[in-house]
Amino acid sequence: MSDLHDITVLDKVATLSIPGHDPIQLPILKGTIGPECIDIRELGKQGYFTYDPGFVSTAACSSRITFIDGKKGVLLYRGYPIADLARKADYLQVCYLLFNGEMPSKREYDDFCFKVRHHTLIHEQIASLFKAFRRDSHPMAVMCGVAGALSAFYHGGLDIYDPEHRQATAIRLIAKIPTLAAMAYKYSIGHPFIYPRNDLSYAGNFLHMMFATPCENYEVNPVIERALDRIFTLHADHEQNASTSSVRLAGSSGANPYACIAAGIASLWGPAHGGANEACLRMLEQIGTVDRIPEFIKRAKDKDDPFRLSGFGHRVYKTYDPRALVMRETCHEVLQELKIKDHPILRVATELEQIALSDEYFVKRNLYPNVDFYSGIILKAIGIPVSMFTVIFALARTIGWISHWNEMQNMDESRIGRPRQIYIGSPERHVIAMDER
Ligand code: SDX
Repeated sequence: MSDLHDITVLDKVATLSIPGHDPIQLPILKGTIGPECIDIRELGKQGYFTYDPGFVSTAACSSRITFIDGKKGVLLYRGYPIADLARKADYLQVCYLLFNGEMPSKREYDDFCFKVRHHTLIHEQIASLFKAFRRDSHPMAVMCGVAGALSAFYHGGLDIYDPEHRQATAIRLIAKIPTLAAMAYKYSIGHPFIYPRNDLSYAGNFLHMMFATPCENYEVNPVIERALDRIFTLHADHEQNASTSSVRLAGSSGANPYACIAAGIASLWGPAHGGANEACLRMLEQIGTVDRIPEFIKRAKDKDDPFRLSGFGHRVYKTYDPRALVMRETCHEVLQELKIKDHPILRVATELEQIALSDEYFVKRNLYPNVDFYSGIILKAIGIPVSMFTVIFALARTIGWISHWNEMQNMDESRIGRPRQIYIGSPERHVIAMDER
């Protein structure tokens, strides 16, 4: 076996036999953990390419950041199981881990927190950008705009090939995205922006910027603070999901990293991806009562009905999403703390989960609750409006996006991304002059 920059080339090959063509020998590769894969780069030289819409069976890169085993329901951030991190570490430790590859020592952690806390302010001119949006704009539309605007404030002198510049970019993004997110909310309700406070924790500061007003003191509830911090950790990264792949594709051209993050935010907004937490809660509210669940299950199975059960199913997980298990535990903690006993939405969610997990349609397709199924219930109980759910997801995922963007700058395998296509349009033809058409 020989290594290809930490990818192991196994002592066996795949032989592709194409009629009329010499057999093509393709190396078989293996990472640290996970299935073997076939290196198809040789195909290009032989005049062939592969077809795989949605990249169901295609790797676009190698990565050391996150590993998922969809069959076993395993999710590792730099080798650490997600449930371990959610219970024993806080989000800023996880940010340090994802970006740097190792858990921080106490000194490294304190230094990292100090840097993040001292970059939470945003340029006052960005605040005026908000005023260009309608008050009723979807907060994700605002986030696409203002996150992209950061690239107008941090471009000159930014050398993406300098590791220190990349580290500074990561710190700025981790620090500023919560400020921008809270501003998007405050702007939507016509309240004044609340400045960040350096004496609060990361989650506590976000709660403060979201719910404090200049009129009275705001006390952070420690149970809610911990629950929100855990929600950030559960959403921090997830291999090459659609939004992370969008960031990598944008980054592959050498684009400004803040603009790449805006590409990630745009991609995350879709209801098939990060928009599912908002769609899931709206679905639970639409179902309303347990007796209406069968009607929606029927619609979810109907191929002629575009309706799908939001919060269920996953491209990779074919068992419980390990994040959903921790999220469900957190959900019960928060509802207990807030003394919300008879939560109708929770009753519908619990019943829907039980029905779906025993229904043959869902069992056969391995459709289980995913990370978005319970998160919406917690966020709503905390008082975060449904339209802000995906913004919370984007806030939490920013560290994953920028960690992958940073990683690709270091990898010699990185090239500009440019997928192939099968052309099914018109054969070559010639323009006929207008008066002869
Ligand atoms: C996230 O990639 C990531 O890692 C994403 C994410 C992350 O952290 O970044 O984990 C976050 O996006 C979680 C997923 C959130 N999305 C939803 O909850 C929306 C509902 N789920 C579906 O849209 C769907 O399950 C996807 C998009 C998540 C996965 O789509 P796939 O892998 O392309 O699966 P598919 O569409 O090929 O579905 C396989 C079958 C189909 O039926 P058949 O054609 O085999 O008969 O399952 C059916 C689908 O119709 N199906 C569903 C369903 N999800 C899949 N049927 C009803 N309800 C659903 N939710």
